[in-house]
Amino acid sequence: MNIAIDGPAGAGKSTIAKEIAKELKIVYLDTGAMYRATAYYMLNKGIEVSNEEAVLSVLDGLNMDISYENSQQSVFVCGENVTPFIREHAISMGASTVSKIPAVRIKLVALQREIASKNACVLDGRDIGTYVLPNAEVKIFLTADSLVRATRRFNELKEKNPINPITLEEVKADMDARDKQDSSRSFAPLKPAEDSVILDTTNMSIDEVISAVVSLAKKRK
Ligand code: DC
Repeated sequence: MNIAIDGPAGAGKSTIAKEIAKELKIVYLDTGAMYRATAYYMLNKGIEVSNEEAVLSVLDGLNMDISYENSQQSVFVCGENVTPFIREHAISMGASTVSKIPAVRIKLVALQREIASKNACVLDGRDIGTYVLPNAEVKIFLTADSLVRATRRFNELKEKNPINPITLEEVKADMDARDKQDSSRSFAPLKPAEDSVILDTTNMSIDEVISAVVSLAKKRK
């Protein structure tokens, strides 16, 4: 069984997907981490992620592997574990920008489909239910009010780095810009699949969201 969780930034997709994976004892595939790792690879090579031609010139050299230890996902790029470096706020927009390039998506989607074909998985991303796994048994579109999403992300960043200079307003502006870019790209944009269940988590606790998704998954099993 595959569970697709799509939605805008900060909707709680990864928190929910991790808990669902634990509860149902399935693999959690964080597809955003793959776009983040791609952006990290490009930036390290001095490639401008908005320059499609430049990105394409080094894309073949990008060897990505996903591995799991104690259910924790690690992303390796050309043998280097890049997982600790890709959650930086600065990587988020780079990931969104590089993800607009169809050849990048095609390459990463092939790896996502391969992993999903070998394991029961919960995948989170932007295009899982619409493009990566159109036949996923459960499709959730997780959303929430944009100020609530930005506040959640801001608190997360503050917890990781208490002397973080970024403000809530900056987090919200970046998130809005990223959602706009992710929803408006021409190839596999962020949007709910027609057969997805839309969950607005603005006034829901994490436990309420988890039990809603688990009960849907159990019904479709
Ligand atoms: O989920 P995230 O914030 O880690 O994702 C980072 C960016 O990667 C996001 O802004 C758009 C892109 N992405 C995508 O285009 N498709 C996915 N399935 C996952 C992420």
